[in-house]
Amino acid sequence: MSHHLSSPSSAVPAPLPSLVTRLRAAGCVFAEDEAELLVATARTPADLAAMTDRRVAGFPLEQVLGWAEFCGRRIAVDPGVFVPRRRTEFLVGQAAALVRAVPRPRPVVVDLCCGTGAVGAALAAAVGSADDMPSAHIELHAADIEPAAVRCARRNIPPATGRVYEGDLYAALPPGLRGRVDILVVNAPYVPTDAIGLLPPEARDHEPRVALDGGADGLDVQRRVAAEAARWLAPGGHLLIETSERQAPHTLDAFRRHGLRTRLAADEDLCATVVIGARPGTAP
Ligand SMILES: C[S@@+](CC[C@H](N)C(=O)[O-])C[C@H]1O[C@@H](n2cnc3c(N)ncnc32)[C@H](O)[C@@H]1O
Repeated sequence: MSHHLSSPSSAVPAPLPSLVTRLRAAGCVFAEDEAELLVATARTPADLAAMTDRRVAGFPLEQVLGWAEFCGRRIAVDPGVFVPRRRTEFLVGQAAALVRAVPRPRPVVVDLCCGTGAVGAALAAAVGSADDMPSAHIELHAADIEPAAVRCARRNIPPATGRVYEGDLYAALPPGLRGRVDILVVNAPYVPTDAIGLLPPEARDHEPRVALDGGADGLDVQRRVAAEAARWLAPGGHLLIETSERQAPHTLDAFRRHGLRTRLAADEDLCATVVIGARPGTAP
């Protein structure tokens, strides 16, 4: 998951060959790039030593560095919080296109199961044209059930950009949002319980189970999101959920069962699949 971070351009000292060797011995495929990033991010030699120890112990590079690159921006990633994946940039792109098509100012956007808040933060940046105040272009709300994720999301979505709530799916949201949400964008856990053991150790051991485990077929949380979506969406509003190619037919079913008009979007290069549903009706 770490190979997509760009190498820093700053004049960092060449990584010590011994650092590269240690990282490679620990199984880091992109050892040179990682060494450069660690050297550029560490504030002191002691810091570098501690970061290297954590990386060699198997922590995800992004949790060690404290940031991930996502949609061309640095997103803060705290220990124990799900690392935003490159494939999720496709979800952001699909959502951004729909935000731009909302026929009124300041569309209401909700990032449910927000983790670091990467999706919401990237959307706010993508749809804002004013560099200093991109959030003015959307009313952004984000929520997650995990306290560590909520703390991290509040760093990536400061008050000037949006609000971040803690709680179980819709229960976390202010009731006043019911029937007003233009874009509900969700990357919920969707790994089937039995497949968790097959994930790379970085994910299995260092990302919270609640961020990964989607129940027996992986779709428990998605079904709960779909079941209540129409109550929260504005007429004509959209729900977008990232899923896998294999699970997509079942995600589509869940959307249809709850009255949404559906379509599928996919990007082969990113291995990304997104199910998009619309609440029937026209935006007021
Ligand atoms: C796969 S991670 C995605 C995080 C983020 N959206 C992203 O793409 O980087 C799923 C997130 O859903 C959260 N989550 C799981 N069950 C939840 C629930 N019932 N209510 C709210 N959040 C939940 C987890 O804590 C985790 O942060």
